[in-house]
Amino acid sequence: MAYNPCAANIVPFHSIVSIIIRTDEAENEYRMTMKTKSVYICQSCAFQSPKWAGKCPSCGAWGTFVEEVVRDEKRKSSAGAAGTAKITTLNEVESSNGDKLITGIAELDRVLGGGITRGSLILVGGDPGIGKSTLMLQICAAISKHAPIYITGEESLQQIKMRAARLTNVPDNLMLLAETDIYEVTKAIAGSEAGVAIVDSIQTMQSAEIDSTPGSISQVRECAARLMEVAKRTHKPVFMVGHVNKEGSIAGPKVLEHTVDTVLQFEGEGVYSYRILRALKNRYGSTNEIGIFEMGETGLREVHNPSEIFLTQRSVEESGTAVCASIEGTRPLLVEVQALVTPTSYNVPQRSSTGFEYKRLQMIIAILEKRLGLNFAHNDVFVNVAGGVSLNDPAVDLGIAAALVSSLRDIPVAQGTVFIGEVGLTGEVRTVTAIEQRLGESQKLGFKRAVLPQANVKKMIRGYDIELCGVERISLALAQIFS
Ligand code: TYD
Ligand code: MG
Repeated sequence: MAYNPCAANIVPFHSIVSIIIRTDEAENEYRMTMKTKSVYICQSCAFQSPKWAGKCPSCGAWGTFVEEVVRDEKRKSSAGAAGTAKITTLNEVESSNGDKLITGIAELDRVLGGGITRGSLILVGGDPGIGKSTLMLQICAAISKHAPIYITGEESLQQIKMRAARLTNVPDNLMLLAETDIYEVTKAIAGSEAGVAIVDSIQTMQSAEIDSTPGSISQVRECAARLMEVAKRTHKPVFMVGHVNKEGSIAGPKVLEHTVDTVLQFEGEGVYSYRILRALKNRYGSTNEIGIFEMGETGLREVHNPSEIFLTQRSVEESGTAVCASIEGTRPLLVEVQALVTPTSYNVPQRSSTGFEYKRLQMIIAILEKRLGLNFAHNDVFVNVAGGVSLNDPAVDLGIAAALVSSLRDIPVAQGTVFIGEVGLTGEVRTVTAIEQRLGESQKLGFKRAVLPQANVKKMIRGYDIELCGVERISLALAQIFS
């Protein structure tokens, strides 16, 4: 079945696709003979129960059971008994080493593990309005030579066209399909010349075999399974967009995570225009990498040097701020951490942390109290990582501690200082990984002094144009800065 790409904007798909359905007798027979049953499914963890219950016995969530009609699994196994399954040996399987489509969007390629793997199913999750559809359309533009098809169940074709007009390079012959029936969608992917498919969004897709509403767990699961099947069979990569619910997880999260090859999360923080693309799961690459974009008038722009952005609004003369050299994936990222320590007006002082793990903040406060004799008991403590990034690297501990002490004492940290080091419970400053990259980035951005673990300094093999203050204990580190 060949599609005329030039006619793509005129919605040629409905009529063409429905003709194929009529000719596919096997599928029709499958639809006719299938048995269905009604069960209650927890919308949070997909636990199934024959009866309604207020609380899910599996995940403990309340009020999450919804009645859904699902396909009788036994039909599947009896269909398998027909003996059509083909067994192969390892050497017969074609090797697919390095078989990746490089999009040229470096921030995306890195997160995907070097490009889009053929035949993979990629889930892209994120809050509404974060820019998922924009990213998808820009991917279409970047890989136009692979003939992408953009399938929308959410927006009209006119809306897509309006978005495309804001972006640069979206080719005029981009194939579009406005469809929500997953059967027709998979037929279009397999039957067209498209090399890559984008399904926006999985929550709007529905399968006629299932009576539940679109977006319910059994619909989402069935539709994802259908897309997985078509991706594997045709070797065409399929992106599917998924909305994040109020609790911050993708609908049917556990179910989808198991099904798909890659889960990408697109996130951003409130008023900031920065967007971070993160791999939560990746069968073809590391999950540590992040890609950074900036949303502008003409779509998403790649940010190749993120440190510069996360440091620009830094006011050096203020107390309560410090710069840490963190590693995100394989890339060094210099970020400013801010702390505000103020006398509390409550019986129980408040602790709040944005972009840094709350428990780890409590631990650092406890270490500062025990090892340095500081007192935070009558102070509220707020910690914030500037620019809306969240830091998981333990090497930022020392910077957080410096910002806390700087705010408590109201003494600014000396200009041009960068902090590197994990803090242990006994107050020791522990060795960190990738010290060369952290120092290299600090040097590149003009930092003059680095406070870092003594053990790292001892093992140093090359010199830097940066003063190195090796420290063994947190007390020593902070004494040096605030003496
Ligand atoms: P969109 O891709 O529709 O988000 P999602 O699919 O995740 O819901 O992006 C929506 C937002 O992005 C919207 O608020 C407008 C903004 N935007 C820009 O700022 N610049 C642009 O060039 C485009 C296309 C969108
Ligand atoms: Mg969208």
